[in-house]
This record gives sequence, C-alpha cells and structure tokens, in this order.
Amino acid sequence: MTNHSIVLTGITTTGTPHLGNYAGAIRPAIKASKNKNVRPFYFLADYHALIKCHEPARVKQSSLEIAATWLALGLDTSNAIFYRQSDIPEIMELTWMLTCVTAKGLMNRAHAYKAAVAENEEVEGSDTDKGVTMGLFSYPILMAADILLFNANKVPVGKDQIQHIEMARDIASRFNHIYGEHFQLPEAVLDENASTILGLDGRKMSKSYNNTIPLFEPEKKLRKLINKIKTNSLEPGEPKETENCTLFGLYQAFANNHEIEAIRTRYAEGISWGEMKQVLFEKINEEVAPARERYEALLEAPEHIEQELQEGAEKARTISLPFIQTLRAAVGISKITPQQIA
Ligand code: TRP
Repeated sequence: MTNHSIVLTGITTTGTPHLGNYAGAIRPAIKASKNKNVRPFYFLADYHALIKCHEPARVKQSSLEIAATWLALGLDTSNAIFYRQSDIPEIMELTWMLTCVTAKGLMNRAHAYKAAVAENEEVEGSDTDKGVTMGLFSYPILMAADILLFNANKVPVGKDQIQHIEMARDIASRFNHIYGEHFQLPEAVLDENASTILGLDGRKMSKSYNNTIPLFEPEKKLRKLINKIKTNSLEPGEPKETENCTLFGLYQAFANNHEIEAIRTRYAEGISWGEMKQVLFEKINEEVAPARERYEALLEAPEHIEQELQEGAEKARTISLPFIQTLRAAVGISKITPQQIA
C-alpha cells in the first residue's frame, strides 16, 4: 500500500456549477491537479445524482456541463484522473461488498436520512420513511466505495460531507477486520472557502436555495445577476460594513490581498452599492472570461469531453480492475482454482 497522498473527490451531477462551487471546491482542485506530488482522482458522481434527481435530461446535461467546466478551467488530465463514476463498474461491485458488512444501525445515523425522517415525523400519522428510497438510505455506502476502491487518503469535501467520510472509515475498518487489511482509512479535507460565499439573497450560495450565480453565465447575464444581489439600504457616502456583506465576500474570493484592503477602505469611505457591484463584476469577469470561452467551445464539441472521460476511465480501471479481483478473492467469490479442486 502506498503512503503518498491520494486525493479523491466526486461532484454530484444534478446542477450547473456556480461561483460558490468554483471558489470553494473547483478552483483549489484544479490547482491541485497541477501538483505532481499528488495524483488526484476527480469524478462525476452520476450514480449519486440518481438518488436525488429522477430527471434523466437534467442528469445528462449536468454531467456535460460539469465535465466541460473542469476541462475549461484547465484541469491537468495528464496528472489527475478524471472520470465518470458510471464508467467504473467496480464501484458498484464494491458497493455491494461493503453493503454486506455495513451495520444498518450505522446508516440509521446518517444526517440526510435522519433529516428526512424528522421531517416526516412532524406530519401527524405519516409514515416516517415516506419518500426515503434505499438509494438515499445507503448513499454513504456508495460514497465509501468511491473512496475505498482507489484507497484515497485525502478527501476534499464540504462540511456537510464529513459524516460520510467518517462512515467510510467505519465501513473500511469493518471490512479490514473481517477480510484483512485491504483499505486505508480516508480523511476529510475541509474546503474552508466554500462556506464564505453567499448567494443572491444573502444566504449561503446553494442550488437548494435557488440563489446561485452560475460560473459561466454569459457576460451580460453575469452583470445582471450581480446587480440583483441583495444589499442593505445605506446611501452612497455612508460608511459600510464588510462583514457579512455578500458583495465583499465574493470580491474576497477573487481579489488579491492588496485589492481587498483597498476595497475595505472604500467601504469605510462609503462606496455606493452600485459602484461596488460594477467593481465586483469586473473582477469576476476578468478571471472567468477566458475559461468561459473554452467552456462554450467544449459544449459545441462534446466528443472532446467524452474522449477525456474515456481516457480517464481507462486509467482508473487499471487500478480498480486488479483491486476488485483481490477483493473478490478476499471475500471468497473468485473462480475455483485447480489447487482447490485437488
Ligand atoms: N456526496 C458528495 C456530495 O454531494 C459527492 C461525492 C460522491 C463524493 N462520492 C464522493 C465526494 C466521494 C467525495 C468522495 O458533495
């Protein structure tokens, strides 16, 4: 088993990447893809998408958009392995092996499942498992399979996913205890920036709040959305707080320290919201414009995207195929050997 860092993360294919995803997760991941000391595994979690989304067109479109986004932003696919989860059948097989050693009680404790049950309990006389599919219930096992199949030890995730990494560790330990030391125990790496990006309405930017600014919105639309960001009613010339200010938080995610300090001063001097929105638009647009062009070109030529994904899957399977054979042997479902017969 290797000791160097194997970084792995998945992106659920149900939405369009937005500025919060970009600053919190995608940008650092792209940067890491260029570091030759790590071998990152990044994948489109399309099996996960089926858990929350039963609209095939949306899952398909989202997979395309997410893949195009990562490639347009300069993901180094000579170093990072970039693939679609459903192209790696070993993930499903490992999911079953893990399902068979996972205590149901462990899954009962998963936040997402508990939240669904709690919501049902509020309705008098309703079935507490209403709307809970087995996919939702066993979601952490699928995620554990994603991670353990490549023996990843560092998993960059948002806060809401930490429990899932802990569950992956529990499941891995259980498997190791029964069948021998096959898995390393993964660790969560928290992306700190993600939580600081607020959306149009001032709540955390999230597709579930419908308050996002899509990363590759055409320029005009980007300007319009930035103009829609909610502010307080302070007039031009009145000093303004940077703390908890959606505009300032976004600016911080795109500007260098020197620029941030300069804007802090302008806040104290009473910069108008209109001007701040203009400054913010320019800052964001300057960073995303070149990638936006590549993104649009990629969407016009999806066969390039597909080819990258196929190459990624091929590389991933050079690892997952032999490993699943080892695991099959470990659990006793491998082929009958001549020694065994004799
Ligand atoms: N569940 C993660 C999310 O919703 C996505 C994901 C799926 C993932 N498999 C993973 C993240 C494995 C890290 C590792 O954000």
